[in-house]
Amino acid sequence: MRREAEQRARELRALIDEANYRYYVLDAPSIPDSEYDRLLRELQELETRYPELRTPDSPTQRVGAPPLQDFAQVAHALPMLSLNNAFSEAEVAAFDRRVREGLGRPDEEVEYAVEPKFDGLAITLRYEDGLFARGATRGDGYTGEDVSANLRTVRAIPMRLLGDRPPRVLEVRGEVLMLRRDFERLNAQARDRGEKTFANPRNAAAGSLRQLDSRVTARRRLSFFAYGVGQVEGADLPATHGGIMAWLADLRFPVAAQRDTARGVRGLIAFFEKLGAGRAALPYDIDGAVYKVNRLADQEVLGYVARAPRFAIAHKYPAQEELTTVEAIDVQVGRTGALTPVARLKPVFVGGVTVTNATLHNEDEVRRKDVRVGDTVIVRRAGDVIPEVVGVVLERRPLRDLLTPLHEPFRMRDTCPECGAPVLRLEGEAAARCTNGLACPAQRKQAILHFASRRAMDIEGLGDKLVDQLVDRGLVATPADLYSLTREQVAGLERMADKSADNLIQAIQDSRGRPLARCIHALGIRHVGEQTAKDLARHFGRMADLLAADETALQSVADVGPVVAASIRAFLEERHNQAVILALQHAGAWVDGEPAPREALPLAGKTFVLTGTLPDLSREAAKSRIEALGGKVAGSVSKKTDYVVAGAEPGSKLMKAEELGVKVLDQDELLELLKGVVES
Ligand code: IVH
Repeated sequence: MRREAEQRARELRALIDEANYRYYVLDAPSIPDSEYDRLLRELQELETRYPELRTPDSPTQRVGAPPLQDFAQVAHALPMLSLNNAFSEAEVAAFDRRVREGLGRPDEEVEYAVEPKFDGLAITLRYEDGLFARGATRGDGYTGEDVSANLRTVRAIPMRLLGDRPPRVLEVRGEVLMLRRDFERLNAQARDRGEKTFANPRNAAAGSLRQLDSRVTARRRLSFFAYGVGQVEGADLPATHGGIMAWLADLRFPVAAQRDTARGVRGLIAFFEKLGAGRAALPYDIDGAVYKVNRLADQEVLGYVARAPRFAIAHKYPAQEELTTVEAIDVQVGRTGALTPVARLKPVFVGGVTVTNATLHNEDEVRRKDVRVGDTVIVRRAGDVIPEVVGVVLERRPLRDLLTPLHEPFRMRDTCPECGAPVLRLEGEAAARCTNGLACPAQRKQAILHFASRRAMDIEGLGDKLVDQLVDRGLVATPADLYSLTREQVAGLERMADKSADNLIQAIQDSRGRPLARCIHALGIRHVGEQTAKDLARHFGRMADLLAADETALQSVADVGPVVAASIRAFLEERHNQAVILALQHAGAWVDGEPAPREALPLAGKTFVLTGTLPDLSREAAKSRIEALGGKVAGSVSKKTDYVVAGAEPGSKLMKAEELGVKVLDQDELLELLKGVVES
């Protein structure tokens, strides 16, 4: 029995390690979560029964250990150095020149290993005879803190090296970081509990790694990427840095997929630009590229100056976060009347542009961050995302004195800044709204801009300056009025040349006869985005049928639930909106199509049977979503059944399904299936 248990424990460990590797390193899961949980539970049970089977490299040890009093200090076998920075092409060129001259080959192009500069925390991992022995932070470069217990919880870090003949000692150097989605999730949880949030993934990773209670770290989901080695004994090193990275990848360490080699300054800059172009789409933050002379023999010749290598440099992107001060907090009115507090800032260069405004999202956010006029704040602009205020540097809040007034905490205004109408905040909603609807000029302008936008009716050249004038002069009150504008009216606007007036009139003409889906999207119904508009158009085919649909009929459309259905009904029942739709019809703004025939729907001909209770979907909701896509829901299982959807406490239907070999889905698998057919 004992022997069998030992054998099974070894098997389970190998299976779980493999699953971890596939999931956390390759990002290509091999088994469903439910199966993973089953394997882990089985191993835990075995280890409880036979405690001597519980090895330190067991995957069961990744859930954290009892809290520590403090971290032990560790002296690094080889120092952990830092990199010099370059902020411009000229600085990169100067680095490359120093390298060529240092190598005594001034006219030869040098080959560099190039990789992302991860925005996390440096750590070193020590493996002895193939087993994870210890991991430490960088500290001052010579001595760091032993954070082994926390690192054990990071599933991307192997606890045992792959292969039969591991090196006597291997130190792997790399960066611990938090994926953006894990960071968002962590902050969302903190917000729900009214706890402090982290300003960025880097701070969240640092806070999590320096937890004395590793069980907390385990819940935080840290990630890791290797970028080099420290001490190595009992293994021959490859001749290049690229070779080292390939070796580490073979040993199952996560390494950057973008790593590459490049020659000369031109090659380095090309890599920098390519990496930068893909930066926003990466699942984690990077703050630059790192260039390393590829041949280790050359690295040795170049050596170090002070505490940084001469053979490597970090080429940094412009910072995405900067400090500046808040000059005022205004409130802007959006298309649906939502009031958004906006910080007016002392101009600051961040993320490559000068920023003067940053969103504060809503009243609760301003209060939670406690942003006040006069405060020094961290402003973030990442990619093309709207700049936002991340937080206040409280230590720099001005103290009350005779000259500076003390600013009060922010309070949302009671009236709309544009039209003076009362402001209302419904329970459960984050946004306060102006109650004036399209009678509010700000909402009217936004509604017209949205109507004309590229993904809606696509009226080229109708930007905010023009819409401001058209509305302020009373020429246009609703989107439908656009179609009766005359050339003379447009030509009379400020800064409007004859040619531009012609172009605008032409663009409005060209927008007649758009597909129904675009026109539904253009109406700006709350909760109805581009995709829902497409689903509605496909389902109903004609605007008249959409207008006639009640909430039940609306909910038979894929992904339209009670909230969306109610919002559509509320919009369509309003007299003003009905008049606009009628006028748009007269203008020929859209063309109707045919409703989708049932047999063309993606699940046509498929029969489902539901049994047991699903965690988040009521039986009715599951049924209506299956039917919306053309599927049928039957009461009993037969050979003709395609899928049985089983929840908790399933009945005999599940047994029947297994007997007949019918495919069984759980809730997640059903949702995946529904999503898959909608997207394809
Ligand atoms: S190599 C001898 N490669 O940047 C130099 N560092 O400023 C060893 N970092 O402390 C560092 N990504 O935390 C290297 N691909 C990369 C890196 C990287 C991020 C960090 C690391 C280091 C700091 C140096």
